[in-house]
Amino acid sequence: MDALVLVSGRGSNLRAICRAIDDGRCEARIVGVVSDKRSAAGLGFAEARGIPTRVVPLEKGDDRDQWNVELGDQVASLNPELVVLAGFMRILGPPFLERFPGRIINVHPALLPSFPGHNGPKDAIKGGVRISGCTVHIVDDGVDTGPIIAQAAVPVLPDDTPETLHARIQVQEHRLLPEVIHRITLGEIELDPLKIKAAYADPSKFLSVPNV
Ligand code: GRF
Repeated sequence: MDALVLVSGRGSNLRAICRAIDDGRCEARIVGVVSDKRSAAGLGFAEARGIPTRVVPLEKGDDRDQWNVELGDQVASLNPELVVLAGFMRILGPPFLERFPGRIINVHPALLPSFPGHNGPKDAIKGGVRISGCTVHIVDDGVDTGPIIAQAAVPVLPDDTPETLHARIQVQEHRLLPEVIHRITLGEIELDPLKIKAAYADPSKFLSVPNV
């Protein structure tokens, strides 16, 4: 499975995917890392590993549709079979999404559909939930609304800050995301939103990956 990773920040999920590939836990090849931010640490990591990188910045006042087209051009030039959003902090629009239908997944630091958006761990603490976690889902044109592929849970502890909770969630992200990519490669997970929705009706076919 040729996968491309979109990052905006430190890229710990990108590193986790690469670690899993190196360890033989994830059958995939990272064909490129693309970012909207030149400063994204994930880019430096990718370069050091010899992975092609591209930057498509989005500045204030830029035309969003045009940015989506340019991002799509850069991603398409690397020929990925799968596009993985791992800490990519921009909302993708139809000009991008329509070029990679059913081939884009995202990892989110909350148990969707609760707490979508930029502050998953903070919102979970504010919401008073005792269990949170991470979700890997197909990307659609909403904010963290696409069909859920897999989830992993962590406890929310009484003294948690958004940072301590996020750190606990990330341990699970680093396990879950490479596992989902591996299962997509094996054909155990089909990125067909209709099939995933249908699987919800039959728990025996549910595509969640339990906690270890
Ligand atoms: C992760 O928690 C992911 O769920 C969210 O952004 C964070 C990115 O972390 N979408 P990193 O850049 O992979 O370390």
